[in-house]
Amino acid sequence: MSNDVIIEAWNTVLFEKFSRFKYLFIEGYAAISEEVLKRHQYAEGAHVLEVGCGFGDCTVEIAKCVGAEGVATGVDCASNFIAECHKTAAEQGIKNARFIVADVEADDLGGPYDEAFARFGTMFFNLPGLAMKNIRAALKPGGKFTQIVWRKREDNPWVHEAECCVRNIVPVISHDETDAVHCGPGPFSMAGPDMVSDMLQAVGFEKIQFERFDSDICIGRNLEESIAFAMEIGPAGEIIRLAGEEGERLKGDVIVALKDVIAKFEKEDGSFWAPSSAWFVTAYNPK
Ligand SMILES: C[S@@+](CC[C@H](N)C(=O)[O-])C[C@H]1O[C@@H](n2cnc3c(N)ncnc32)[C@H](O)[C@@H]1O
Repeated sequence: MSNDVIIEAWNTVLFEKFSRFKYLFIEGYAAISEEVLKRHQYAEGAHVLEVGCGFGDCTVEIAKCVGAEGVATGVDCASNFIAECHKTAAEQGIKNARFIVADVEADDLGGPYDEAFARFGTMFFNLPGLAMKNIRAALKPGGKFTQIVWRKREDNPWVHEAECCVRNIVPVISHDETDAVHCGPGPFSMAGPDMVSDMLQAVGFEKIQFERFDSDICIGRNLEESIAFAMEIGPAGEIIRLAGEEGERLKGDVIVALKDVIAKFEKEDGSFWAPSSAWFVTAYNPK
């Protein structure tokens, strides 16, 4: 099965959406990846692969951890994201990060690497088993794969409640019913530990562990930004986009309803912070 539609989506509409809210993603997600990088430290000199690296901010952080003797390699299927990664690394004077445009399900990922890492980079794979198999093939014997994925939707109300709100107003068009490009499986596709551990085991990983990490994340610096973020990102944004003209027409109603949904997340300074919950999943390539 070709990933062309998904790759086009990440290179176009999704790249534009993520760029518009880059500040929120980089700030919000950084707190989560800082925690995982503290718990699972990379040795100086290590060669580390990051899959689905997006803007490359994590790859750059990993490059700092492994020092001049190590290398961090960021891989993403969207060339627009990779172009941003090159800019970020150059701006920060990082010499030991490299970036590759590749489909993690199908392409050679280079290597062999000591470790692999993904921050919310594995939940949108069309064929996740194939991607996990390819990641393992790129690791040295004994190499560790650490990934951050969202836990269940009910514990991530910033995404889930916005989706429920939009579903009540906008007709849901499935991927099969539209020619519009789409992101592939959604943010909660890797939330189930049984399914994820079975899949990792099936492709040969061992010593699989799940650590839960809960934190509040900023979903907007003010009401306007919080509503825009809720309407554009995640399943809520995809429902509105895939509904086409009808989605556009109903945006006014969605804004009114979302104001009620997110009101409870407002802090004293007018910014909005909502609970989030993720898994840190680690697995090893056998020695
Ligand atoms: C939710 S974003 C996460 C980006 C980044 N890791 C972060 O935490 O900000 C998912 C990323 O995975 C990439 N992606 C999706 N499917 C992919 C595939 N088959 N191969 C490589 N990258 C993929 C997308 O282009 C996107 O940059």
